[in-house]
Parts: sequence; structure tokens; C-alpha cells
Amino acid sequence: MEKPYILHMFTPSKNVSPFDVNMAYDAGYQAVVPYTDLSVDQVAAYTQDAIFSRGPTGVRRTGIFLGGRDIGVAYDMMDNVRKAMVQHFEVSVFADPSGAFTTAAAMIAAVEHQLKKQFGLGLEGRNVVLLGGTGPVGSAAAVLASSAGARVRVASHVGLARARIAAETVNARYNATAEPADMSDVKSINALLADAEVLLGTAKAGVQVASAEQLQGCLQLKVAADLNAVPPAGIAGIALTDHGVPLPAGSGVAVGIGALAVGNIKYQVMHGMFDRMLKADRAVYLDFRDAFIYAREKVAAI
Ligand SMILES: NC(=O)c1ccc[n+]([C@@H]2O[C@H](COP(=O)([O-])OP(=O)(O)OC[C@H]3O[C@@H](n4cnc5c(N)ncnc54)[C@H](OP(=O)(O)O)[C@@H]3O)[C@@H](O)[C@H]2O)c1
Repeated sequence: MEKPYILHMFTPSKNVSPFDVNMAYDAGYQAVVPYTDLSVDQVAAYTQDAIFSRGPTGVRRTGIFLGGRDIGVAYDMMDNVRKAMVQHFEVSVFADPSGAFTTAAAMIAAVEHQLKKQFGLGLEGRNVVLLGGTGPVGSAAAVLASSAGARVRVASHVGLARARIAAETVNARYNATAEPADMSDVKSINALLADAEVLLGTAKAGVQVASAEQLQGCLQLKVAADLNAVPPAGIAGIALTDHGVPLPAGSGVAVGIGALAVGNIKYQVMHGMFDRMLKADRAVYLDFRDAFIYAREKVAAI
């Protein structure tokens, strides 16, 4: 009998995400097993427990998924899992805490595509503002956009100190150059909007971070993407399925990308990452950088 494809899901949270479980089964895993409440220090022992029992063919049919809510913790877990591998017993690993890596990859690839298509520009040198940028998705997006050469500001509605902690955390872990920004009052938000060329709505679901009136102050805006699928829209005027649809803003040239348009790409990217693990002859280690490469290919084909 052929050995089944088994995915071990490690998470520091109390539960694994049902979304991730569905995605793993739909991609082809035949058993998906959760390990919850794990600390960064525990994952090495769990990794070695998972890799030794199945022989060379079983190793190729075994994978590890790293979940949770925190992209810094996911980074540390990936590091410890990788160090715990033993030659000839390496298994593939994919980190996507809170879906943040695949979602951010899909959003930034879609933004990059619209910048190129509508304006003949890349991300390099662009002014990117993340409203609600301190969460897992915003943090991952900040890393990707700054790695592509954009000037990235991560804004917090609590204030500058909170934004600074978030920016410094991702910069230290992922070698990024995100800057902190304050969005705790209307004046601060409007100042950020005034020179934003790319505006990303990554705040918690159901919160509007830029109104239609405020968008009139966006004099440089080229592309805006909104991840909030729960009404009202995070960025007013962007419909869920918009992908490069004109957006009324002060610049007169802006286009919008909606949450379901990003979600559609994200779904394909996550499926694609699991598929790579399932088909790989040698162990692969996948994070948001791999997700971004794949997202760029998917977006280009749209
Ligand atoms: N389309 C997709 O495929 C997809 C996939 C995953 C997630 N999402 C969506 O992407 C967004 C980001 O996800 P996430 O998990 O990173 O979000 P999150 O952690 O729930 O929230 C992100 C940030 O929102 C800020 N925030 C909280 N309350 C706020 C308020 N009242 N006003 C303004 N900002 C507020 C918080 O930062 P501060 O407290 O520092 O301001 C928080 O760090 C969510 O809307 C989520 O639903 C979409």
C-alpha cells in the first residue's frame, strides 16, 4: 500500500485555522494533523518526531505547515524546524501564519501588476502607505513592498509608538525598511494620504480607514487595494471584486483592487504552495517570498 500524504500543522495558537485545513485537504493531503499551543522551542522536537519513521518515500509524502498569528514567531519556528532536519530525512515546510504570507503576496503582486499596466511603473521608489499595517497581513505586505524598493509606511490607529514596534519587529526579522506612521487622528491620516501613491487597507475586518471625502486628498494616488471584505469597505469606493477599476480620488487617475480579487489570487497561491510540497522530489521551505514569486506568475496570467 502506498503511504498517505501527511501534513503536520504546528501552531502557537489554541487551534489551527479551518481555512488552512480545508486548503491542505483540497490540495491533496490525505491526513492533516494539528499540534496546538506549541512554543518556538518545542518545534525542533516535534519535527524530529515527524521525520524519522517513514523512510525515503514517506519523507517525500510528509510535510509541515507553520500557522499562528504572528509572522515573527513563524520566522523563528521556521528557523528551528529547518535546523532540526537531518540529512536524508528532510521534509517540506510551508509557513503561512494567519494566511498573511499568501494574502500579502497576492495583494502586492496585484498592486505591482496594476502599477505596470496602468502607469508603466514598478514598486521601486513608490510611496506606499499601509493603513492598519501592524497586523500579520500588513506586516508581511510591508516586507514585500519594501524589498521591492518602495518607501513603506506602516500606520497604526493607536499611534506612532505602536507602529514603531511593528515596523522595527519586521525590519529586524526580515531585513525590511518599513517606517512607522501615526493614523490615530484625521489630521495624521490626511497627511499620510496626501503623498501616497499606493494605498493599502489592511486594518481589521469591518473598519473603514479611508472615506470617500478623504480620498479627494489623495493627490498622488495610483493604486489602492482594500482587504476588508466586511462592510463598510476599508477604502471607500472599492468594490469586493474590483481589479483595476477606476477609483474616485484627488489624483484623478487611481484604480482600486478589492478583497475578493486579492482573495482569488491568494487561494491559488496557497494551493500552489501545497502542490509544490506534494510534488517536490527534495524538501522545500516556503514562505512569503515563494508565495510572491508564484503570485506574480498568477497575476500576469489574468
Ligand atoms: N482577502 C483576503 O484574502 C484576506 C485574507 C486574510 C485577511 N484578510 C483581511 O485582511 C485584513 C488584515 O488582516 P489581519 O489578520 O492582518 O488583520 P488584524 O490583525 O485583525 O488587524 C490589522 C490591524 O488593524 C488595526 N486596527 C484594529 N482596530 C482598528 C480600528 N478600529 N481602526 C483602524 N485600525 C484598526 C490594528 O492595528 P493598530 O491597533 O496598530 O491600529 C491591527 O493590527 C483584515 O481585514 C482581514 O479580514 C483578507
